[in-house]
Amino acid sequence: MSTTRTRVAIVGGGPAGLMLSHLLHLSGIESVVLDHREVAEIETTHRAGILERDAVRLLVDSGASERVLTEGDRHGGIHLRFGGVNHHVDFERHVGASVWLYPQTEVFVDLHRTRTRDGGDLRYGISGTQVHDVTGSPRVTYVDAEGVTHEVRAEIVVGADGSRSICRALVDPRKQYFREYPFAWFGFLCEAPKSADELVYTRSERGFALISQRTEDVQRMYFQCDAGEDPTAWSEDRIWSEMHARTAGHDDFVLRTGPVIEKSVLPFRSFVQTPMRHGNLVLAGDAAHTVPPTGAKGLNLALADVRVLAEVLERALVKDDAAALDGYTERALSRVWKAQHFSYWMTTMLHRTAEGSDFDELRQLGELSWLVGSEAGSAYLAEGYTGWPSR
Ligand code: DHB
Repeated sequence: MSTTRTRVAIVGGGPAGLMLSHLLHLSGIESVVLDHREVAEIETTHRAGILERDAVRLLVDSGASERVLTEGDRHGGIHLRFGGVNHHVDFERHVGASVWLYPQTEVFVDLHRTRTRDGGDLRYGISGTQVHDVTGSPRVTYVDAEGVTHEVRAEIVVGADGSRSICRALVDPRKQYFREYPFAWFGFLCEAPKSADELVYTRSERGFALISQRTEDVQRMYFQCDAGEDPTAWSEDRIWSEMHARTAGHDDFVLRTGPVIEKSVLPFRSFVQTPMRHGNLVLAGDAAHTVPPTGAKGLNLALADVRVLAEVLERALVKDDAAALDGYTERALSRVWKAQHFSYWMTTMLHRTAEGSDFDELRQLGELSWLVGSEAGSAYLAEGYTGWPSR
């Protein structure tokens, strides 16, 4: 068995784990990143595509990505489509901020390239990862592709290993909070031109639909479906006929269609586990909390967690401030609960409820018409969508 000593062992080499490793490197703190997936697998898994203002700043200011500015698309608002008409909400006007359309896979590519360039110790394609002795001298053991067992000894272990986290189970949960939803999202990629300049979030009697983008020729779309829906039961014709029905209206909006090149069903739930730390083990991102996809907060929250965590770890490991980790859960959760509310709120405003009652339908339309017709309503959406400024 080979042994490596490092200061921070990061379980999970997605964007959160890599960004943490990058920020620690900038503070002169060594880390080792471990992930059971291969790099190629992460690079080809489709995830959400919207970055909040502060997430973009973090990528650019830390030197991790110039590409987000040159290849990403700045979006100064969104369209809310209901009652058969598009209503534009202008983020710039209401809160002076924008978001960027830049898919999570690209964030991963940039961070992976940056860490590789800087000589980061990144170990992908491993198996059997186990974390030991988190209240004493933590160790992570795993087996490499050749079947050799390795051990990484660290002062701190960070669980940035996503919604199926193995680290989460090692934190003695004081409290877990859940919200289940009686639906899911059907997501697909298609070869089609853009249907609009910005994203179109649609509420219809048949349920929610979202028209997002990827490039000039490839688009990403989603529609509300039943939980447990089978993607293979949806032919291309059936997908487009549902999208047409949900986006139909009486303005000049035209849904642009084309071959569907990938499809999947996305789970839908809200989850928070507290605390986010146990001894020398700390959780970040989806390992500690999950939001429903509406509003694309998942990656943004993970990046916000690791920004706080990098600062706290620097105080703990460079400035010998042993109490620095104590405030991490509270600081991270203050943003997490705002995002939980925001994702839940957007979801309940735009999705058809299980019963599909007239009351709910008219209540949603009342809320939407307030939102687009009021400075306060539009500013509320704009602030949450572009992200709350970090302290
Ligand atoms: C995307 C996903 C979302 O959940 C969302 O709210 C907006 C955009 C996307 O994949 O592009």
